[in-house]
Amino acid sequence: MYLIAPSILSADFTRLGEEVVNVIESGADWIHFDVMDNHYVPNLTVGPLVCEAIRPLTRALIDVHLMARPVDRLIHDFARAGANLISFHPEASEHVDRSLALIRDSGCQSGLVFNPATPLDYLDYVMDKLDLVLLMGVNPGFGGQAFIPATLAKLRAVRARIDAYERASGRRIRLEIDGGVKVDNIAEIAGAGADTFVAGSAIYGAGQDGDAHRYDSIIADLRAELAKA
Ligand code: DX5
Ligand code: ZN
Repeated sequence: MYLIAPSILSADFTRLGEEVVNVIESGADWIHFDVMDNHYVPNLTVGPLVCEAIRPLTRALIDVHLMARPVDRLIHDFARAGANLISFHPEASEHVDRSLALIRDSGCQSGLVFNPATPLDYLDYVMDKLDLVLLMGVNPGFGGQAFIPATLAKLRAVRARIDAYERASGRRIRLEIDGGVKVDNIAEIAGAGADTFVAGSAIYGAGQDGDAHRYDSIIADLRAELAKA
């Protein structure tokens, strides 16, 4: 039930293909793909061309996290580039409901992302259009930041909303956490209700000292902590 989604933001970009293949072979579930535009967030990363390049290398779900504005054209571009799940920040779309519908219409699963200070009200009317809720444990823009503790209470609040929705609808919505997830806090984060865990620096930072860029032991450590949750 718990899924681990390494963020390639912290991968070695000189050998990105290998980093994607190895992290999945090491036991990860999804590839988390961070898209930053230097407007919505103060950093600039990768776009649909890179998604298209890694698509043939793995059958794992590609989880595209748009930190970019506007979002609608990017939805189309990433769907064509092989994304399976696309999430965006409500502040980055003029019409949140329309953007969610566009994601579904393009054949992808849809997600809405909440920054640390973003209220959960955006969930009030769109649960039927969501496959995933993503809570940021840090302010978006960079890997390697410390987890903001207030996120735990927010996770519990979203967990309660999702549980109520699932009971009423019979439909599953995943609750993903992104930012500051480490071996020493993942169990507590799972206890607060997350079921899907992005980890960038924790995973890719752990493998870089080895000679083969393998991530078996860090992923096993994360799973061992999850087993305690
Ligand atoms: C932050 C990104 C995250 C980031 C996580 O803006 O959305 O996905 O890569 O990195 P860590 O796990 O190092 O906090
Ligand atoms: Zn992310």
